[in-house]
Amino acid sequence: MSGTSDGLRPASPSMRGGADRDRPSGWDVESPTLARIRREVYGDEYPEEVRPRSFVTRSELRHFARELRIGPGQTFIDIGCGQGGPSLWVARETGTSLVGIGVSSDGISHAVARARDMGRADRARFEVADAAATELSAASFDAAMSVDTLWAIPDRAAALREVARVLRPGARFVFTNWDRDLSPPGYPPPVDDHRPLLEATGFQVEAYEIQPDAERLRRIFYERLVAARPELARESGEEGAKKLTYGAEATLGLIDGRDYLAHSRRIFVVARAMPFAEVHRWSAFRHCFAHDRPPGIRRAPRRDGQRAGITFA
Ligand SMILES: C[S@@+](CC[C@H](N)C(=O)[O-])C[C@H]1O[C@@H](n2cnc3c(N)ncnc32)[C@H](O)[C@@H]1O
Repeated sequence: MSGTSDGLRPASPSMRGGADRDRPSGWDVESPTLARIRREVYGDEYPEEVRPRSFVTRSELRHFARELRIGPGQTFIDIGCGQGGPSLWVARETGTSLVGIGVSSDGISHAVARARDMGRADRARFEVADAAATELSAASFDAAMSVDTLWAIPDRAAALREVARVLRPGARFVFTNWDRDLSPPGYPPPVDDHRPLLEATGFQVEAYEIQPDAERLRRIFYERLVAARPELARESGEEGAKKLTYGAEATLGLIDGRDYLAHSRRIFVVARAMPFAEVHRWSAFRHCFAHDRPPGIRRAPRRDGQRAGITFA
C-alpha cells in the first residue's frame, strides 16, 4: 500500500491531520463490571479475549474475517479501531496486516500495546486520525472494516467517501452500525437506511443484514448497566460511571422519556468500492433513476436480511 509500501512500521501511536481531539468518552474507561455484564448477557458470544469497546459478537467477528476476502500479503484498515481488539483478531485470523485509525489517543495507545501483546507489532500500525480526513494515500488498502463507529461521526458522507477513496477499486468495506429513525439526545443525526448513502459515496452494496436479536440483548445489557451504577462509581469514580452509563440512559429514554432503542436496528453490511468510472456513470444517472433507468443498470431488490444494491449488467 502506498504510504506504507515500504512495509509496516512497528506499531506506534502517530497522528494525522491534527486529528488528536482525544474526546473523553466511556469507550476507553476500563471496567470489570461492564465486562462482567457483557459476559452475563452475551454468554459464549462475548469475545472475552478481544475486549471490544463495542457490541461485536464472536459470530460477527468470524463474519468480518470471512467477508473482508483478504489473506496473507494484504493490508486492511479499521475505521474507529478503539483499542484495536476486533481488528487485531481479524488480522491474526486472516494472516493480514492492519492499519487502525481512531480519534482517541488513549485508545490508540492501548491498541499499540495490544498489538505488541498479541505478537503483531510488526504488522499493525495505529494512528490518531479522523475517519472523514485520514490523509492516507488513495487506493492503498485491500479492504476496510469498522465496528460500531459510523454512527458517532457527524459527517458520515465525508467518512464514507474517504473510505471509498483509500480502498482499491473493487475492495470490500465491511461494517456494523445502526440504522436509526431517531437519535438519542447528544448523538449525531440518525440515518434510517445506509444504502442510499453508500451508493452516493462510491459503494455498491453487496449484503445488508439486520441482526435479528441484537437490540433485545442490547436492552438487557443497558438495563443491567444502569442498575450497576453504584458499583461502576465505586470502580471508576462518579465521572467514569457517568461516561459508562450515558449511552444506556439516553438510548433507553431515561433522559427524555423516549425509547430510542425501539427506533434502532443493528446492521451488518458488506459493500464494495466502485471503480472510479462506475461511480461517475452512476452519479450521472442517479437523478433519473426512479423514472427512467438507463440501460445496463438495474436496482437489486431491497429486502431486509437479503442481498441488495445496485448492479451493473
Ligand atoms: C464504540 S467504539 C468502537 C471501538 C472499536 N471499533 C471496537 O469495536 O472495540 C467507537 C470508536 O470510534 C472512534 N471514533 C469516533 N469518531 C471517530 C471519527 N470521526 N474518526 C475515527 N474514529 C472515530 C472512537 O474513538 C471509538 O474508539
